[in-house]
Amino acid sequence: MRAYRFDEPNNLQALRARQEAVGAPQRGEVLVRVRAVALNYRDISLILGRYVWDTAAGLIPCSDAAGEIVAVGEGVTDFKPGDRVISIFHPRWFGGRVPKGAAMQTYGNGVDGWLCEEKVVSQEALVALPDDISFEEGATLPCAATTAWTALSGATPIRAGSTVLTLGTGGVSIFAVQLAKAMGARVIATTSSAEKAERLRALGADEVVNYNEVEAWGRHVRKTLTGGVGVDCVVEVGGPATINESLRAVRPGGEVVLIGFLSEENPGIDYFLLKGSNAVVRSIAVGDRAALEDLVRAWRGARLKPVIDKVFDFDEALEAFAHMQAGRHVGKVVIRVG
Ligand SMILES: NC(=O)c1ccc[n+]([C@@H]2O[C@H](COP(=O)([O-])OP(=O)(O)OC[C@H]3O[C@@H](n4cnc5c(N)ncnc54)[C@H](OP(=O)(O)O)[C@@H]3O)[C@@H](O)[C@H]2O)c1
Repeated sequence: MRAYRFDEPNNLQALRARQEAVGAPQRGEVLVRVRAVALNYRDISLILGRYVWDTAAGLIPCSDAAGEIVAVGEGVTDFKPGDRVISIFHPRWFGGRVPKGAAMQTYGNGVDGWLCEEKVVSQEALVALPDDISFEEGATLPCAATTAWTALSGATPIRAGSTVLTLGTGGVSIFAVQLAKAMGARVIATTSSAEKAERLRALGADEVVNYNEVEAWGRHVRKTLTGGVGVDCVVEVGGPATINESLRAVRPGGEVVLIGFLSEENPGIDYFLLKGSNAVVRSIAVGDRAALEDLVRAWRGARLKPVIDKVFDFDEALEAFAHMQAGRHVGKVVIRVG
């Protein structure tokens, strides 16, 4: 089977596919034929040295995949050959507290990921993919969609009538728009262009703010778009350069959910703004297996469809990474395998 690896760090061009052997599944393991892999900004940040956790070099990249079971080891009870599955982001975090060492057991930074044709994993590291979700759609759910779900369904989950602020039109943010609208929330979304603003409105965003035109977008959201109240939840993917505006946009008692680090500038957090916001600041790491299972149920219940910007073939993985890095996509970038 073929598998991709980056031959050198800090170079997205150094992605090469090679023939590799795949072992037989052992007790409790299954062999998955990979059918689709979805990219996340994380897959780029790992190679460019911009990730939040340590990274081992030379691993197969990508955390998100959909495929079918082709063989099972002894004692496998959850799946049989032919079953359709998706990967879970944290292969050993099923629920409850995060297991010790989980940060170095995630795909592409601590263990080999999914940008390959076949992979052996524990049956526990997979979730069933319903027949009405295609492999390409299913591959988009493990990281970005689960993260959006975890962001919106914390200790104070959003509900009908809540106001949610999303930033940009990447994978996590588009899922957040779709899920928040499905839950009956009012969505305010930021973006960089008029064209992307139209896409957001078509997905149901109630208000769209172009952050290139409205520099103080956080204050604008609070004062003008929420009548001075502030939003209930900010799905914060921008990171160091957007956190201060997000703190200006949130209502006292609302939540700023720390997710991303897309911005390269790091002006620092204004402590008095943070303290004075009276907001809950919650940093999340995607979610556990139960969150993905809940998300799949909610996704089907609300009859949602992932927004897939472009599907590349397995041989075009380099182009897929370049497309993702260019940042012109809306939603998800997917690689079809096999
Ligand atoms: N903590 C977690 O659990 C978790 C899980 C998933 C992802 N993440 C992180 O969340 C972030 C988003 O991931 P993703 O895969 O959704 O990314 P993505 O698809 O690459 O999102 C890119 C889009 O974000 C917007 N953007 C780019 N730079 C921005 C900035 N400085 N401020 C605001 N918006 C910006 C742009 O949209 P517009 O042109 O429309 O503005 C861009 O097209 C990444 O940092 C990722 O590593 C964290």
